[in-house]
Amino acid sequence: MCEKCRGNYYITTPIYYPSAKLHIGHAYCTVATDTMARFKRLQGYNVMFLTGTDEHGQKIEDKAKAAGVTPQQFVDNIVTGERGVLDLWKLMNISYDRFIRTTDDYHVAAIQRIFKKMHDNGDIYKGVYKGKYCKPCESFWTESQLKDGKCPDCGREVQDAEEEAYFFRLSKYADRVQDLLENTDFLEPRSRVNEMVNNFIKPGLEDLCVSRTSFTWGVPVDFDPGHVVYVWIDALFNYMTALGFENDKYHDLEAFWPADVHFVGKEIVRFHSIIWPAMLMSMGMPLPKKVFGHGWLLLGGGKMSKSKGNVVDPVVLAERYGVDALRYYLLREFPLGSDGNFSNELLISRINTDLANDLGNLLSRTVAMVIKYFGGTLPAEREHDALDDELIAMASSLRETYAGYMDNFGTQQALIEVFKVISRANKYIDETAPWVLAKDESKRARLATVLYNLLETLRITVTLLLPFMPDSCAKAFAQIGAAAEQTTWDNAAVWGVLPADVTVHKGETLFPRIDMDKELDEL
Ligand code: ME8
Repeated sequence: MCEKCRGNYYITTPIYYPSAKLHIGHAYCTVATDTMARFKRLQGYNVMFLTGTDEHGQKIEDKAKAAGVTPQQFVDNIVTGERGVLDLWKLMNISYDRFIRTTDDYHVAAIQRIFKKMHDNGDIYKGVYKGKYCKPCESFWTESQLKDGKCPDCGREVQDAEEEAYFFRLSKYADRVQDLLENTDFLEPRSRVNEMVNNFIKPGLEDLCVSRTSFTWGVPVDFDPGHVVYVWIDALFNYMTALGFENDKYHDLEAFWPADVHFVGKEIVRFHSIIWPAMLMSMGMPLPKKVFGHGWLLLGGGKMSKSKGNVVDPVVLAERYGVDALRYYLLREFPLGSDGNFSNELLISRINTDLANDLGNLLSRTVAMVIKYFGGTLPAEREHDALDDELIAMASSLRETYAGYMDNFGTQQALIEVFKVISRANKYIDETAPWVLAKDESKRARLATVLYNLLETLRITVTLLLPFMPDSCAKAFAQIGAAAEQTTWDNAAVWGVLPADVTVHKGETLFPRIDMDKELDEL
């Protein structure tokens, strides 16, 4: 850990199935995680942000076959090919520190060692698998877990399956996992705890089938040829192999394990909050500090699943509206823990109201007035008025309220608080009427004070928006003449950081207004 840092912080996204191009729902999850990672960096933490791709399994094998390529060629195209996963994360400005692919050699070898260790300690044993299998979800279900005879996750038909297979003694860990869920803050939001305990643990946790023989695209069980490791075991351990667990590629386990938070979609909370801790208990490893289950971005009320085909392309949206506007919308419109309905109309109206009107106008009007009335550089004289107090108090205390929400993944609430201060600043312009002050030579110091207060409010609010809209915030700082050392976390709680004779610079309009009718017509 570096000496100046507040500590290490390890945050992960789920690793994505590269079975088709990613949609806006995937981007939602990764943008949320990226924002939290940037927030922690802003606070001064030494952050490790991991993302990657989960490349094995029958679904990928089948899709590659249909496409007439090898599974490796198939996933390479979706991960590293043009407009692939890596390109998308670059476009969306995802600041990951490490990217893992489960087909990486070091990971495959580590999974083989992990599987063998759990076999050697008696937690993985050989038996016969009889049950139901949902191919698109790559999930095994028992009869009692099915919903109307169908897959409880996606609602599709399941198949009978029977084969020799290895099992993990999940049942052995049921009590410890239940205790973890019920008596600690391991899983959030707390509403997900009841669901896990009542639906999965209380009906009886059965041992989990953890190997397959009916396909080959997976990590081979090295001591029993023909078996490949169940894709979820392979996938979950990515969080540790990417730090160097059971391999020599990396050496970051001591610094970053246990993870501070695994950020995951609600349908995979079961894997992360039951199976994952049980396997870690089996391996004698510390458990992650938290699993946060976020909601789904819905389209017309249904899940935006690639298997259903109703995809919304994040590349098209980012090109049309700007990456930062899209990032902002995703985190402002919906609370992270709940589902939210994606709509182009809502997206445009958010951009117009919050970004173009409130923030964009505050910035462009303030900079324009400093240029118009003072040639771009404020004079140092000041004249305070009681009218300034509320704005200064709100801006000065914003960081604390914001941190309270952000530390609990309350990104929506944090943004609401920032925009309350931005709106207050716009109202302050109307109250102080700088254009009237400008007409009176004796009011120069008062006019300079008003404009300085607006610049300071912008400096603080934009600093706190950095994790959400990094590029636009950097451009806004250049416009208000704020240097890097003035836009730090520490300085976000201090009033009066910009020099009294600050110089502003006219810049491009950060968030142009969108003509809603025209735009909706064109879509
Ligand atoms: O689940 N709204 O991969 P995946 C919000 N490989 N989030 C969504 C979403 C939507 N419409 N659609 C997908 C996997 N997601 C596994 C993870 S981790 C060890 C292995 C989210 O590509 C989804 O909830 O199917 C999940 O968290 C993530 O995208 C990856 O989904």
